[in-house]
Order: sequence, then structure tokens, then C-alpha cells
Amino acid sequence: MDRLKIDEPALAGAALEDFTLAEDPWPLFAAWMAEAEASEAEDPNAMALATAGADGLPDVRIVLLKGADRRGFVFYTNVDSAKGEELAQNPQAALVLHWKSRRRQVRARGAVTRVTPEEADAYFASRHRDSRIGAHASRQSRPLADRATLMAEVAELAARYENAAVPRPENWTGFRIEPVTIEFWQNGDYRLHDRVRFTRDGAGWSRSRLYP
Ligand SMILES: Cc1cc2nc3c(=O)[nH]c(=O)nc-3n(C[C@H](O)[C@H](O)[C@H](O)COP(=O)(O)O)c2cc1C
Repeated sequence: MDRLKIDEPALAGAALEDFTLAEDPWPLFAAWMAEAEASEAEDPNAMALATAGADGLPDVRIVLLKGADRRGFVFYTNVDSAKGEELAQNPQAALVLHWKSRRRQVRARGAVTRVTPEEADAYFASRHRDSRIGAHASRQSRPLADRATLMAEVAELAARYENAAVPRPENWTGFRIEPVTIEFWQNGDYRLHDRVRFTRDGAGWSRSRLYP
């Protein structure tokens, strides 16, 4: 997997000691993400994404974190999917990353906005050609009669774009979760885990410890 690029200097030897914590969460997030990339066997950037539409019933699924910087956490998906519809009804979400090898989790909550078309175009262009074809073929979250139907559509699209660039589908883009809270959890002995929560405070952040 490509390393997730985080435009943030990582804290060296980051632990949840007060003296190593910065005033904002991003250096620690960058450090933990880099350490997870070094140790997780698969998809260190896989995160559970929770949304709730107008009916208020929470929904959750895994997506890949494809960008993280001071603006927020970015993932890509089909806007006509269940999650896309839920976000259209209620543009707020929560996420959690769990790194088993590190015995850590990071949670965040916040409002969700779409990335710019230019940002989505740039990421779409970086994807494998077959993934770009797949984005066109998948009517994500809609009923599918059988797998053969999908594969026939993929073959038809591959032929159509054989000698042409595969454009980004209009209904495929990125979303950015702009966090109002980010919480770091580190496993501790005897369930005495370490929890530190950063809460958006004007242009900055406030920081507090929580009982495990
Ligand atoms: C490891 C993993 C990574 C995934 N990454 C994405 C992703 O980045 N974007 C996406 O739309 N779906 C991704 N999926 C599929 C989603 O979990 C989900 O099945 C799909 O987005 C439809 O969700 P929805 O019906 O709630 O919209 C991933 C699944 C797994 C297990």
C-alpha cells in the first residue's frame, strides 16, 4: 500500500505522557499513523466510518483514510451509496481507527464536507486503472442480480475506455471529516488505559484526560 502522506511532523517517540503532547492533535496523529503503517499487516488506514441519516439510525462500515491534515480526515466513495445518502441528509460523521499491533485506537467526530473537484480528480487519477473502471461499474449499495452482471459491465466499460483516459464518475468523490474532537487511546496494563481527548476550541484545541 502507498504510505498515507500526512503533512505534519511526527512527534518522536510519541507516548501519551503530558510532556510529549503538543497543544494540538496532529503531530501525535501523524506519529501514530506512521507507526501503524510500519507494524499493521494490512490496511493500517482502514477506519470505521459511522453516519446516521434523517431517521437517526446509526450505520457503520470500513473505508480507507486517504488524507489527513489540519483540515481533517479524507475518504473517497460513491455519493449515491447508502453512506452518501446518509451524509446528504446529515453531513456529520464519526470515525475510529484501531491498530491491533499497537493496541491503540483513534476516534474523531465532526462535520463532513466534500473535497474540491480538483482534489478528487487528483486522487482518482492516482488509482489503478481497474479501480477507476470499477468506480464506474459499481452502483454502490444498490441491489445486484448476480456477480456476472457486474463483471459484464466491467468488461463493457474496459472496452469503452480501452484507448481513453477513464474520467472520474460524477458521483464519485471525497469527503472530509472536520474533527471537533479527536481522542487517542493507548492500551494500559490491567485495563488502566490511557485516554487523551482534544476538543476544538476556537482556532485551537483544548486537551483533557479521560478515565479509561
Ligand atoms: C478494508 C476495507 C476498505 C474499504 N474501503 C472503502 C473505501 O475507501 N470507500 C468505499 O466506498 N468503500 C470501502 N469499503 C467498502 C465499504 O465497507 C462498504 O461496503 C461500501 O462502501 C458500501 O457502504 P454503504 O452501503 O454503507 O455506503 C471498504 C471495505 C473494507 C473491508
